[in-house]
Amino acid sequence: MTAPASSTANTLDVAAVREAFPILHRCVHDKPLVYLDNAATTQKPLVVLDTIDRYYRETNANVHRGVHYLSEAATEAYEGSRVRIGQYINAAGYEEIIYVRGTTEGINLVAQSWGRTNLGAGDEVLITYMEHHSNIVPWQIVCEQTGATLKVAPINDRGELIWEEFEKLLTERTKFVSVVHISNALGTINPVKQIVDAAHAVGAKVMIDAAQAAPHMPVDVRALDCDFLAFSAHKMYGPTGFGVLYGKQDLLEAMPPYQAGGDMIKSVRFEKTIYGDLPYKFEAGTPHIVGPIGLAAAMDYVESIGLDQIAAHEQDLLSYATQRLGEVDGLRLIGTAEHKASVLSFVLDFAHPLDAGTIMDRMGVAVRTGHHCAEPVMERFGVPATIRASLAFYNTREEIEALVRSIEKVRQFV
Ligand code: ALA
Repeated sequence: MTAPASSTANTLDVAAVREAFPILHRCVHDKPLVYLDNAATTQKPLVVLDTIDRYYRETNANVHRGVHYLSEAATEAYEGSRVRIGQYINAAGYEEIIYVRGTTEGINLVAQSWGRTNLGAGDEVLITYMEHHSNIVPWQIVCEQTGATLKVAPINDRGELIWEEFEKLLTERTKFVSVVHISNALGTINPVKQIVDAAHAVGAKVMIDAAQAAPHMPVDVRALDCDFLAFSAHKMYGPTGFGVLYGKQDLLEAMPPYQAGGDMIKSVRFEKTIYGDLPYKFEAGTPHIVGPIGLAAAMDYVESIGLDQIAAHEQDLLSYATQRLGEVDGLRLIGTAEHKASVLSFVLDFAHPLDAGTIMDRMGVAVRTGHHCAEPVMERFGVPATIRASLAFYNTREEIEALVRSIEKVRQFV
């Protein structure tokens, strides 16, 4: 995926980049793997694999719980990663970096902790039509629990937020706005800074789902001035099962815990429990220790390549793929926003997406087919599902050609 037009020329050495990703060299169905499912999860570079392997071989112990050497070393690596992750998104301090299982858990945490405390009858939560289910259902649940109302801002035929409609829905009743930065199903890049400013002007708090943005473009929480933001490690070349919730410190301080158990307390008495300080108040139980350690390694790797370089290459691939797919008879792109990341969702008038995806897989081409956990988007465009090719900086123009050949193969088979 990609940032908006970058001034950086595309000088990325993709062959060298691909050397760093062992899985890209394997075959599937006796064909070279063409991995175009990066919005679902990205592949892992050697440096991340080695970091995780080394952690388990040399350092593994529980964190915050021991005076022994390994526990202290594990805690140091685990907490050092928190500082590194905070730097990546320019958080003001480690207290604002909450370790969670992923974007989904980050949004659920905010909905249940902030939402249940601050929402009531007459209040409104505003989302958009292009949200992932994980940014819809948690708000439906908390609205049912609190009596608040969920409002949904519409999108146009290109898959862009209709700003005038969004502004109309933003009133003094709006207490919370939760929006996706880059749509996983359409590739649309939302004007999140404009959204934050407009929401703050009516006194609403704002959460950004940055799952598809954090790996591909600079995300600066202080420049955005968002109140909360979440992203997942596995979508940015790190391990699965781990993610980050950013929240402004004063808001997090005022919120109750989301889950309870060990490590989130200062003291427990049957009469009264005193919760831990930030960020630990939100981190009950033995955590995914190697998660942040692997993510920090992935961030070092991404920044060693350079987000500008990554964005320029992905922008180039997006333009090329858009042109090549536009030349395929019977193919319709779903999601043609002016500001778009390298996600290409499409339908074919000669094959159902699931049949097409299966045939493409036999050609070694890995794409996602289905509703992409965004059923309202499918409904908006009148399709049951799409085929989605989502590109990362290790993809090449040759792989776009393989994608086009695989679509032509679908035409022959159906
Ligand atoms: N949300 C992920 C996707 O878009 C899983 O595929």
